[in-house]
Amino acid sequence: VKNLITSSQLTPKIIERIFLKAQRFESGLKKGIKTLDILKGITVCTLFYEESTRTRFSFEKATHNLGGNIISTESASHFSSAHKGESLEHTIKVISNPNNPHLRYADIIVLRHPEKGAAQRAANVSGVPIINAGDGFGEHPTQALLDIYTFKKILGRLNNFNIAFVGDLRFSRIIKSDAVLLSKYPGIKMFFVSPKEFRIREELRLYLSQNNIAFEECNNIKTVIKKIDIAYIVRIQKNRLKGIKKILLCWKYERQKDNFSATKEIYEMSEKRGTFFCHPMPIDKKEKEISPEIENLSRVKIFEQAGYGVPVRMAILDILYKDSKKPRNE
Ligand code: CP
Repeated sequence: VKNLITSSQLTPKIIERIFLKAQRFESGLKKGIKTLDILKGITVCTLFYEESTRTRFSFEKATHNLGGNIISTESASHFSSAHKGESLEHTIKVISNPNNPHLRYADIIVLRHPEKGAAQRAANVSGVPIINAGDGFGEHPTQALLDIYTFKKILGRLNNFNIAFVGDLRFSRIIKSDAVLLSKYPGIKMFFVSPKEFRIREELRLYLSQNNIAFEECNNIKTVIKKIDIAYIVRIQKNRLKGIKKILLCWKYERQKDNFSATKEIYEMSEKRGTFFCHPMPIDKKEKEISPEIENLSRVKIFEQAGYGVPVRMAILDILYKDSKKPRNE
């Protein structure tokens, strides 16, 4: 693993390697072991052109826990030289200095960017590993890793279960990353529950069909709630919509949002099956796609899920840094 750009590059063997390490780090954290020296003397750059709470902070906490250093910008579009017109490629070349390793600013770059494909563009010119922390409505592979780490924890397995992805599935980058990762495991049926304007993109539909993955698309969480082991809810991605399209799509979503929200009624309907509720967060405080009434109940795992971001990202940083030092053919 030299860069982490998409879910499709991750095999079950690599995922297992990441999860074994994450489990070890998580057990250590439980015992109060905070600072290891695995990244001692190593600098991680969190280069975020888009807003974030969980991804940036958990990568930074993971780096601290491994004994590394951080350089960071939280809104690179405004507070880096991108604001003066610098290209992403030049920024990456300056930070990672491919031809002068002793002059580089950082040894790993964690990149969040509003454009799909930005992480791959960065990897094409970088002298150090690039971790995709979300690129437009492209992918968010480290979120997918912590999501399925969560599923494994709560179900005790990564096969033979039913999951529903619910909400705005069209503009969410996480849905694709999660669905592609889950498609690597047997016996997982996926339901995609959304208003028709927010259905999954054709590229994902095609990927699932071509890989013989069992999936169904529908438009009300009530029709699937008794059949699923995990309800994975996502918010409407208002930050990716603009102008009249935003007004129209938000209006359409508002009118039907009860069909795509985890309410007390939905929680109670799923009592017998024991369905768990996950969400990558943030939850939109206006739309409340997971009702505050249920957010602290035992089958709602959102805060636990966000917390797994630390050990999983510790494992990703550790493995990526070590692998980047190995010769290509090893
Ligand atoms: N889940 C997620 O990516 O959250 P942030 O946008 O807060 O990083």
